[in-house]
Amino acid sequence: MTVQTALKTHGDILADAQALQDFVSRLWLKAGSSAREADLVADHLVMANLTGHDSHGVGMIPRYVKSLRDGVLTLNQHAAVARDAGAVLTVDGVCGFGQVVAYEAMELGIQRVRSTGICAVGLRNAHHIGRIGHWAEQCARQGLVSFHFVNVAGSVHVSPWGGTDGRFGTNPFCAAFPRKGKEPLVLDFATSGIAQGKARVAYNKGVEVPAGCLIDAQGQPTTNPRVMFEAPHGALRTFGEHKGHGLAMMCELFSGALTGGYTTHAETRVKNSGIINCMLSVIIDPAAFGADDTEAEAEAFIEWVKASPRAAGTDHIFAPGEPERLRAAERRSHGIPIDAGTWREIVTAATTLNMPQSEIDPVVAQG
Ligand SMILES: NC(=O)c1ccc[n+]([C@@H]2O[C@H](COP(=O)([O-])OP(=O)(O)OC[C@H]3O[C@@H](n4cnc5c(N)ncnc54)[C@H](O)[C@@H]3O)[C@@H](O)[C@H]2O)c1
Repeated sequence: MTVQTALKTHGDILADAQALQDFVSRLWLKAGSSAREADLVADHLVMANLTGHDSHGVGMIPRYVKSLRDGVLTLNQHAAVARDAGAVLTVDGVCGFGQVVAYEAMELGIQRVRSTGICAVGLRNAHHIGRIGHWAEQCARQGLVSFHFVNVAGSVHVSPWGGTDGRFGTNPFCAAFPRKGKEPLVLDFATSGIAQGKARVAYNKGVEVPAGCLIDAQGQPTTNPRVMFEAPHGALRTFGEHKGHGLAMMCELFSGALTGGYTTHAETRVKNSGIINCMLSVIIDPAAFGADDTEAEAEAFIEWVKASPRAAGTDHIFAPGEPERLRAAERRSHGIPIDAGTWREIVTAATTLNMPQSEIDPVVAQG
């Protein structure tokens, strides 16, 4: 069955994870990426889909292709150390693929932590670095704690607490705590009530977003994601009222101002298709504290929390990161659902890169 037939007959598609990853690699090779770059981008995007964060998965491809055509995204760039102050590294992402420069920035930080115990990595001017949990997991795989503050430089999708228009981006925060022989805890969220990409997925599906997440152009609450994509534009709201607002502002300052990147204001407001992220990552070797009971204390706490009697209608108490791992296991077995609108946009983007139909078709496992 060709992709077009599957869309016509069934609408949404269900993609096999490996077939999807191979397709995304081939797509970036066609665009001109090196094999390593194509693989890093494909691994990152498909992992976002696997963990259930479709907002940061393969649905980003059309936007990246547009950024490439507009000259905002540059292929085959590498993280460049702008300043080395020992436990503080300033790294320039030179508008290269975030999936490459963030990976390389984390590698630099991980290496440095081995001698310093802690390293603050300031990554600036990276093209979209996607799901931030990916970078925390990279650190956690090496047994390292990390926390990450990120801005979406120049983006005005989110309104301040008390404001009626967009003044900053969805500025994510992420933190991870590794565990010996077990999966790490990974807390990773946008400081907006929902990520911008989740509004895009809802818009493509033609469904509403949860109440409290959006305001329209008049500053009034709405559940229609259209206000994010068609004029007159509205804005997302921060999570947790003034608390999300405050965290979003700190994300902007730590990542955009401290690193020598840039923050969002009238002069830097985005006027093109690019998504530029700056990120402050603090990476810590737990052994540097010299405590011999860190693991035992962490496990005792997690066990204590999970032993809470369940609220009505609730089976599980999850630690951060567990919902993503469950979703990934399920999607690896049963496939990654992609709505028809998103898949159509991806196929169109692939076609503009001269990808033949025969290289697109294997993605569709079942309609
Ligand atoms: N690069 C960027 O510019 C950018 C901007 C914004 C967001 N993002 C990414 O978007 C993604 C989605 O963000 P989001 O705000 O939609 O995430 P979300 O609202 O789904 O929250 C996810 C976090 O909450 C935890 N969680 C979810 N359900 C839980 C439960 N029942 N019990 C305990 N913990 C639970 C998850 O493990 C995870 O840590 C993130 O990966 C983020 O990094 C990236």
